[in-house]
Amino acid sequence: MSIRKIVTLPDPVLRRKARKVTAFDKELHTLIDDMIETMRVAPGVGLAAPQVGDSRRLVVVEYAEEDEQLEESQQPPKKLYVFVNPEITDKSEEEEVGLEGCLSIPELVGEVSRHSRITIKGFNRHGKPIRLKAEGWLARIFQHEIDHLEGIVYPDRATRVWKPSAEEAEAIRD
Ligand code: NI
Repeated sequence: MSIRKIVTLPDPVLRRKARKVTAFDKELHTLIDDMIETMRVAPGVGLAAPQVGDSRRLVVVEYAEEDEQLEESQQPPKKLYVFVNPEITDKSEEEEVGLEGCLSIPELVGEVSRHSRITIKGFNRHGKPIRLKAEGWLARIFQHEIDHLEGIVYPDRATRVWKPSAEEAEAIRD
């Protein structure tokens, strides 16, 4: 595995519509493993292939919903999700406003309204169909990452974008 370079705006690959993955081969598996490692080292909660300069429809997400009732050491483990050719097939009418950052847009944050609940269909690394129902932050992360596959970045949808204070930056990293 190796860490790939995360591209930042205004790199045109971030504005391109990514193409469907058709080969679930060894080369794809290397890309997936590299993206997972790159996301962990960054660190980030999600990464889309265009962010490492590869215009294919693939996202990785690693996230655990924090349980405020529990102490740090008892928090649920993070879950890793790999979605190839992901599609949002269902979304709640209800939306929530939340704070987002992006590894491809360093030093900025924005306030974005996202659907509270979504259903995602796609394929795992072996080409097997998979489906996920997500809500809250997990739903937000997937909407953000899947947008990257359309060449959309969060400031396109944000009501407000700004350079955060040190405390805000800390909160968003979590
Ligand atoms: Ni992003």
